[in-house]
Amino acid sequence: MRIPREIVDRVRERIDISEVIGRHVRLERRGNSLVGLCPFHQERSPSFNVVPHKAMYHCFGCGNGGDVFKFLMLVEGLSFVEAVKELALAANIEIPERDLTPDERRALAQRASLYDVLEAAAQFYESTLWTRPEGQRGREYLDKRAMPEGLRKKARMGFAPAGRAPATDALRSKGISERQLLEVGLLRASNSGGGTYEMFRERVLFPIRDERARVIGFGGRLLEGDGPKYVNTPETRLYEKSKVLYGLEMARNAIQQRDRVIVVEGYFDVLAMHDAGFSETVATCGTALTPDHLEKLRRLTTNVIVLLDADEAGSRAAEKVLPMLLAAKITPWRLQLPGAKDPDELVRTEGVEAMKKAIERKEPLLDWVIGRRIDRAGAHAMSRERVLNELAPMLKGLPQALASAVAAQLHLSEQQVFDAIKHATAPPTSPGQAPEIEVVPMSAPAWRPTRDITHLVWLLVHRYGAVADLATRIDPALLDGHEPVRAAVARLIVGEPVASIASEERHPDVVRLLHAVVAKEGLYAESDAAIAMCEVIERLEAPAVEQRLQLLMRSQEEALRAQNMEAQRQAGTERMALLAHRKAVTAAVRKGDVAAWIALRPRESG
Ligand code: UTP
Ligand code: MN
Repeated sequence: MRIPREIVDRVRERIDISEVIGRHVRLERRGNSLVGLCPFHQERSPSFNVVPHKAMYHCFGCGNGGDVFKFLMLVEGLSFVEAVKELALAANIEIPERDLTPDERRALAQRASLYDVLEAAAQFYESTLWTRPEGQRGREYLDKRAMPEGLRKKARMGFAPAGRAPATDALRSKGISERQLLEVGLLRASNSGGGTYEMFRERVLFPIRDERARVIGFGGRLLEGDGPKYVNTPETRLYEKSKVLYGLEMARNAIQQRDRVIVVEGYFDVLAMHDAGFSETVATCGTALTPDHLEKLRRLTTNVIVLLDADEAGSRAAEKVLPMLLAAKITPWRLQLPGAKDPDELVRTEGVEAMKKAIERKEPLLDWVIGRRIDRAGAHAMSRERVLNELAPMLKGLPQALASAVAAQLHLSEQQVFDAIKHATAPPTSPGQAPEIEVVPMSAPAWRPTRDITHLVWLLVHRYGAVADLATRIDPALLDGHEPVRAAVARLIVGEPVASIASEERHPDVVRLLHAVVAKEGLYAESDAAIAMCEVIERLEAPAVEQRLQLLMRSQEEALRAQNMEAQRQAGTERMALLAHRKAVTAAVRKGDVAAWIALRPRESG
C-alpha cells in the first residue's frame, strides 16, 4: 500500500521521537537534545543524539541518523509502511486503508485489540507480583531463586494468583470480554459443560514479547506441587511457538553487535544469561528450533550457539537441528556446560567467569556430530564411510572448506567426500530461503554485468545498512535478463557475507564481478547510498515499464479500432496512471527523497 506523503509528515510531527527512541536507548538530556549510547555501533561514551524539535536522531560516532521511521526500521526490522502504520496508531492518525477489503480491515482492527488485551493482562499480572498480597508467594519464589528485582522489571515478570477467575474479573472492569480472553489464550473452555478456566493459576509468569516488545503470550512456572512445571500460551493468532524466540526483543542489539546468538532452553536461563552480561541469549518456548526461528536469527547473525541440556535428549536434539542449521547457511556451535548444569544454575552457583570459560570451549556442531557418529559406528574404514554417507545430504551446497574438514575428521580422502556429496540427494529440511546455486550450462549465452547491475551489487556489498530495506523491495522480475547474477543478489539481499557467496558461485563472470566490486571503494557515500539504490532499481525496472506502456498503447489503439470505448478508456486510464507514476518516481529520485520513493512503490505483499 502507499501512504500519502501528508500523512507520513503528520505522523512524524505528532510523535515524540525521544519517547520512541527512549524505549530502546537510555537517553539523558543535554541542552536541546538527548544523548545516549548508540544502538548501531558499540561505544562507551554516548555520541548518539536525539533532537526532538527536529524530529531527528544522529550518531556522531557511526554517522547513522534519520527520522523516527528510519529508527524503527533499523531497530525493530520494520518496513517503512509498517513503521508509519505503527506510529500512526499511537498518534491516533488514521491511515486511509484504501487497498484493504472490509474483511481485511476488520481483521487488522481485531488483531490490534488483541495486543491491547494482552498488554492489560501483563499489567495485571505485573502489579499482582509487585504490589498485591496475592503476589507474596510469587515474590518469595523469585527471591528464593535469587532473581534480581531489576531483571524482574526488565522482563516484565508477573504472578498469576490463585482463585477462580482473578484475571478475568480484573480485566472485565477494563471492558475486556471473555471472548477476547479466549482468543488470546488466557482463558480456556473446560471440557465439561460450557464453563471456562484461566490458563495460569499460581504461577510465576514470563510475558513472551515479539520483536516489537508487544506481549503475545506467557510462559508460567509452577511454584511447587503437582502439575506441569511450565505452562505456555496455546497457539493463538498472535502466538505461534514455532516462530517466537523468548528474549529476542531484549537480545536484538547484542546479537547484532556481538555477531552471535546463544540459544538456550528455558526462560530462567535467558534471564540469568542476560543478568550475567550474555545479553545475546534467547530461548525457544518449549519447542525445538524451527526454520522460522532461524530465519529470524539469520537476519541478525549467522553464528548460532546451541546450548542444550547435556543429557541424551539434549544431545539428540542438538544432532537433529544440525541439517536445518547447515541448510540455512548458519555456522552452528554446540556448547556443553560442566557438571550437566543448565545456564541458570551455572551462573548462579559458579558465576560469570565459569560461563565465559564454558563459552570459550564451544565446538562446531558438525565436528561434534561427526565425533558422536563415529563413536557409535566404530572407527574402521567401512563405518567411517557409512557415517559419511549419512552426513553427505546435509553437506550439499556448503563451502568446499567444510567438506575438506569433514574429510580430515573422518580420515577419508577429499575426493571421497566430494563424491559422496555429489551423489547424495538434497536434505529434506532445507528452508526455502537458502537459494540453491544454479549450475550454468556451458552453452549459456554470454552475459556481462551492466553498469546498473554492478552498482546494485556494489551498494549491497558496501552500503548494506543503508540499502537493505530498499533491496527487500526488489521485484524478482528486476533481474530478468540477468539470470546468472540472480542467486548471488538474492543472497546479498538477505545479508549473507559476500565472501561466502563468491566462494560458492560457479559462474565465472559473477565471481569476477563480486571480486571487482569488493575491491572497488567509495562509489557512493553512505549518505547517498539509499537514493542511489532507488535510482538503480528504477533503471533496472525501466525496460519492463516501457514495455507495459507500449502494450497499453497498442491495446488502446486496438480497442479504438474495434470501437470498444470501455476497453479504450480502461487502457487509457492505466497508461496515464503509469506515466504519472513514472514521473513521480523520477522526481523523487531527482530530489533525493527516499521516503517519497518508497511511498510510490507498489504495495508489498505480506
Ligand atoms: P526445563 O525443565 O529444563 O526447566 O525446561 P528449566 O528451564 O531449567 O526451569 P527451572 O529452572 O526448573 O524453573 C526448559 C524449558 O522447556 C519448557 C519451558 O519453556 C522451559 O523453560 N517446558 C518445560 C515446558 O514448556 N513445559 C514443561 O513442563 C517443562
Ligand atoms: Mn533451570
